[in-house]
Amino acid sequence: MKKKILILGIETSCDETSVSIIQDNGKKTPKILANVISSQIKVHKKFGGVVPELAARSHLEKIEIITKKALKKSKVKLKDLDAISATAGPGLIVCLSVGFNFAKALSMALKKPLIAVNHLEGHALSPMFENKINFPYLLLLISGGHTQFLVVRGLGKYKRIGTTIDDALGEAFDKTAKMLGFGFPGGPEIEKYSKKGNPDKFDLPKPIINKGGCNFSFAGLKTAVLRYKNFIKTKKDKYDLAASFQATVLKIIYKKTKVAISEFKKVSKGRSLIVAGGVAANKQIRNIIKKVCYEENFKIYFPKNELCTDNAAMIAIAGLKKFKQKKFNNLNFSVKPRWPLDNKAKFLKGSGVKL
Ligand code: KG4
Ligand code: ZN
Repeated sequence: MKKKILILGIETSCDETSVSIIQDNGKKTPKILANVISSQIKVHKKFGGVVPELAARSHLEKIEIITKKALKKSKVKLKDLDAISATAGPGLIVCLSVGFNFAKALSMALKKPLIAVNHLEGHALSPMFENKINFPYLLLLISGGHTQFLVVRGLGKYKRIGTTIDDALGEAFDKTAKMLGFGFPGGPEIEKYSKKGNPDKFDLPKPIINKGGCNFSFAGLKTAVLRYKNFIKTKKDKYDLAASFQATVLKIIYKKTKVAISEFKKVSKGRSLIVAGGVAANKQIRNIIKKVCYEENFKIYFPKNELCTDNAAMIAIAGLKKFKQKKFNNLNFSVKPRWPLDNKAKFLKGSGVKL
């Protein structure tokens, strides 16, 4: 019988402390035995955004407790683990250091391999708990810090074909929610209040919709929301603005996904699209992307809802895939606050970017 592989995953790149244990039985997909997530929403809510020092302190306070909880829930003993994987970037350096140093200590004490995981690769592989997905595929990563289309040819083999030139999509949701006085994080709030509003009430801009290939820009949209905000009088107006914002995002996503698929088809025989990252939890966004994939005859995969936002199970699955390829790291590996999936891609942020 094939040996079971047990991998521990740790995630502390931003404001979620999470530890997961997953098992590979040689079956089609690995099994999540535990995925404990402690969110810091309460810590950061009053600031309307993540405060790095507070986040790091909270990770420090929680990491050991969460690890013990994950071990208890999975009924796995530390000595039975095959490897320790942890997010080593990208993210907030003070936060990454807490989880990754904890992983180093465990790896050293247990004499088990250490695996440094790119958080974005974790998102990219997150639908693989439910589906066996073959490379190559097109990836749309939509999170709080990233908005990118990537051609994925294998583990660690990414080519970026589109990115945002200013705000990430999750960031645009969060900033719009903050302007409208909704809670944090803003994405789920906008989605909730949009249901009560009229999506056609406000005419908002769709920056670079007809140029720049499958690159995105959301800064102008956010500024337009700010301008309209001054005319808001009632709660209903607020819901209408939230709904109009989301409807505009849907139009942008629809168009840019079409462009990305046509560019992907030129360089790959793959016919699948994976959508991952926190914003992939949005039902309306899922539906519009499903529509594009239906029209383009593409298979579409999303992670389970609870695996869209940051969690350690996705880090453990990336750890598992690297474990199978014996991609281990030394104890002198340092965290990388900036760690693009495609390190040959040009930096495209800031004003004056030529598209
Ligand atoms: O992937 P994630 O948990 O963290 C990063 O790696 O950035 O993504 C967090 C982002 C936040 O900006 C949050 O507002 C957004 O995902 N988000 C959503 C929804 N749920 C979370 N955006 C739109 N609709 C949602 N339902
Ligand atoms: Zn993330």
